[in-house]
Parts: sequence; C-alpha cells; structure tokens
Amino acid sequence: MNNNQKVAAVLAIALCLVIVVSCGGGGSGATTASTAGVGANGGVPASNLSAKAQVGQKIFFDASLSASGRMSCASCHDPNHAYGPPNDLSVQLGGPDLKSPGTRAVPSLRYKDVVPPYADLLDNPDGISAPGPGGGFDWDGRAATLADQARFPLLAVNEMANASASDVAAKLRKTGYVALFKQAFGDGALDQDEGAFTFATQALQAYQLEDASFHPYSSKFDLYASNKIGGELTAAQARGMRVFTDANRGNCASCHYQGAGLNGTSALFTDFTYEAISVPRNMAIAANQDANYQDMGLCGPVRSDHLPAAAGAANKFCGLFKAPTLRNVAQRASFFHNGAMHSLEQVVRFYNTRDTMPQLWYPTVGGTAKATPDRDFPTYGLITTQYVGGTVQKFDDLPAAYRANIDAQMPLDGRAAGSANPMSEADVQDLICFLKTLDDGYQPPTSAPTSGSCIN
Ligand code: HEC
Ligand code: HEC
Repeated sequence: MNNNQKVAAVLAIALCLVIVVSCGGGGSGATTASTAGVGANGGVPASNLSAKAQVGQKIFFDASLSASGRMSCASCHDPNHAYGPPNDLSVQLGGPDLKSPGTRAVPSLRYKDVVPPYADLLDNPDGISAPGPGGGFDWDGRAATLADQARFPLLAVNEMANASASDVAAKLRKTGYVALFKQAFGDGALDQDEGAFTFATQALQAYQLEDASFHPYSSKFDLYASNKIGGELTAAQARGMRVFTDANRGNCASCHYQGAGLNGTSALFTDFTYEAISVPRNMAIAANQDANYQDMGLCGPVRSDHLPAAAGAANKFCGLFKAPTLRNVAQRASFFHNGAMHSLEQVVRFYNTRDTMPQLWYPTVGGTAKATPDRDFPTYGLITTQYVGGTVQKFDDLPAAYRANIDAQMPLDGRAAGSANPMSEADVQDLICFLKTLDDGYQPPTSAPTSGSCIN
C-alpha cells in the first residue's frame, strides 16, 4: 500500500464511523440493493424502492407476462450473471414455445442508468467523448429510454411474444400485484390497454434505474479507483491496465473507457460510441443461414432510420455496433453483438490477430485443408483448420461497399497478414487479468494470495 492509499484507507474508516449508512456499498443511499436472488425467488421487494420501481421488480421476474408463460426479463437478463444471459448460447430462444431463436446476443443490464440518449453529432455534449454516433439502448442504440426499450422484448415474436399492448394489459390485470400497480400509477391505471402497457414499461425503467443491483460499483477496480483497502492491483493486473490504455498495444481505452467522475461514479468502460470492427459472421444464428440477411447495426435491419439509401451506396452507419461496457465482461460466455465468440481469451486474441492471422477468424475458400495442422498453428481461433492456398474471406459479415467504415485504430489497424501482433503473449494474459477486476461483487481476500496466474 502506498502513502496515498494509506491516507485514503484511514479516511475511509474515519468516514465510516461518522456516516455509518454510507459505508459498504456503491449506492447513493437513495436505494438499497436487493440481493440478486431475492427477486428471482419471488421474495420481498427492496423496501425503499418507489412504488413504480416495486411494480417494475414484479414485472421483471414475472413469466406470466409472456406467451409461453415461462419467460420473463430475468430469463435472458439473469441477476446471477450481472443481468446477462445465464448460458453460452450465441442468442437465446423465446416465443410461444421457447423455440424461436433471437438474432443478437443478450447484453448485461448493468450501468444502463448512465447511458446518454442516442445522437449523431460532431461534438457530442452528454459524456460522449468522440465525434460521431453515440448513446442509446440496444446494440444499435434504437431505443431512447429504458421504458422505450422494454416495449420491444414484451412484443418481440422470438422473445416474450405478446400479440399486442392489449395482450400485455390483459395479462397484467390477472397478476397478484394489481393493487400495487394501481397504488403506483393511479386507480384507473389498468383500464386502458395502451396506457397500462406504457405504465408497465415505465415501471421496468424505474426498477432498473433505482435498484442498486443494476449499478453496484462493487468491483476490485472500484476499490482501486477510489484508493480503498483491497483495491491494490496485483503486478499482472497493473501491467494489464497499462496494456488496456497503451495506444500502441491494446488501446482498448480509446473505445472502452469513460473516465471517473461522471455522476460521482468510477469509470464505465465504454464511451458509448459505435464502431465497425467486423466481427465474423456467426452461422450459429439461424437468420444468418439466409445469405441475404445482414445485421449491420446502425444501418439496419432492426434500426430503421439509417437504412442504406441504395444497395451498394456508401452509408457511414453500416456495420457499426455499440462498444459495450466491459464491466462484468468476464462473467459472460458469449461475446459481441452476434455472440460469435465464447471466451474472453478468444475476444482478446481476436483483437490481437484479426489482421495478422485473419485465417483464424474468417473462412477460407479454395485451398486444401491440412490433415494435421502445423505444430505452431494456433487453435484458439474460430477456424481451427489450416489451409494451404485459398482466399480468406476477411470481414465476411459486412458487404464490401461498407468496409471503408471499419475502424482503423489500434489494435485493429489493418496491418498486413503475417506481420507482428500488436500485443505480446504476456500482454494478452495480463490484459485478461485486468479485465477480470471489472467483475462486481469483489470480496478482498483475507490473506494475500500467493499463487495464480494473475498474481505475478
Ligand atoms: C429472449 C431473451 C430476452 C428477454 C426475455 C428480454 N431481453 Fe432484453 N435484450 C435481449 C437482447 C437480445 C437484447 C439486445 C437487442 C438488440 O440489440 O437489438 C436486449 C437488450 C435489452 C436492453 C438494452 C441493453 C443495452 O445494452 O442497451 C434492455 C434495457 C433490456 N434488454 C431490458 C429487458 C427487459 C426490461 C425485459 C423484460 C420486459 C427484457 N429485456 C427481456 C434479450 C432479451
Ligand atoms: C475502435 C474501438 C474499439 C477498440 C479500440 C476496442 N474495442 Fe472492444 N468493442 C468495440 C465495439 C464496437 C464492440 C462491439 C462490436 C460488435 O459486437 O460488433 C466491442 C466489443 C468488445 C467486447 C465484447 C463485449 C460483450 O459484451 O460482448 C469485448 C470483451 C471487448 N470489446 C474488449 C476489448 C478489448 C480488450 C480491447 C483492447 C484490446 C478492445 N475491446 C478495443 C470497440 C472497440
């Protein structure tokens, strides 16, 4: 512990003695975290949520509001997985029989309280540091508020699959929390179908904004950033953080960082911007079996205000997806908008070798498959067959007309195949160690750990 940290630690203890209530959590004191399991078990709601947020909590875990009767928000956004998916599927199954596949990976719902509204500005005012599109909800930013967003899963045919707002309203009138609903939104709140549906989405928004379990700031990084006891990074984590910020190595911070201080919180690990990094096409997504189906993020097909003007014409929005927060990313088992990757190590290696070894990530056409790959042929990629000859279909999920949109920042700077990687093997391992410090729910060990790959 250095001197600053000692001072901070002493101060923290002194403050705890004075204002007992503010210690032990990242919350503002306005709300109390409901522990992850509480809602899932249908238990008591956190008592000092507003009435609207309490309704939202009920709805969030209520499977009776789906066509299948078996799916709630929490089925895909599991509180035990940082409100991300509970499994390693690229996309989840929903619909009336829970057999209809989605088209995009499920994001975590943590830290959505600080997302600015979507804007395409040259000089973004609201905490978006870079010029260009930023903000908004979903991988394409199409929902302006959490309430707007909630309309989508309730009605989507491959999610909760209600036929209409009226369908949702009819189900709401049969729940056990009708009285609470009326208390929160007024006696006539369930009378009008469209009105009841809108109130339900407002309730979901209030729950996600108020309940501290959606923004706990309880990672090791938060302890580190606020100079608190237990936040001292190991040697490997500290080196990993330098890789993360080093413009000549990981350079992750240029898209995945928003500095400390916003609303008095610590870093968010996204700057809310959109970029094209050309993640490989994921054939595990049913919609991708159709060669004409093309998920291009900001330019559609789900988002509809930046659609390509004419086939093949330049459109600066095509292929751009949101740079998500990296908080709790080590708790995920499917990554990127299409869930194409299944481990954090694979993601970091993709950043390191997309350009130097594209054959590990994109399919090769022509050429001959080697029966036994060379001993030094890496097997961590999406493609594990080594080819002699043939052409690598680099950027296979973005039509050629839009490839000029692909971001050329480090570490994806477009360097030639076969050249040196931006990060060394040690950098890759250190970076992964650092990313793991962004997991919430960190408990400092009682004695200093003496072994493990993230220590030295
Ligand atoms: C079948 C799985 C599924 C269910 C059920 C589901 N979601 Fe989602 N959710 C997703 C997917 C997939 C996305 C990303 C959609 C996109 O980018 O187009 C998403 C995105 C979101 C987002 C935006 C997050 C961000 O990073 O911007 C919010 C908020 C959200 N969902 C809330 C909810 C709420 C509230 C419910 C219940 C009413 C719900 N979801 C039900 C799969 C699901
Ligand atoms: C040019 C901006 C940019 C840089 C630099 C960048 N990223 Fe990303 N990152 C993105 C975008 C955009 C996405 C979403 C892409 C998609 O899904 O198509 C993303 C997605 C991710 C994801 C997936 C998260 C999830 O929830 O699925 C991880 C993990 C990640 N980045 C880590 C890193 C690391 C580690 C580095 C540094 C080695 C890095 N990124 C550098 C823009 C960037």
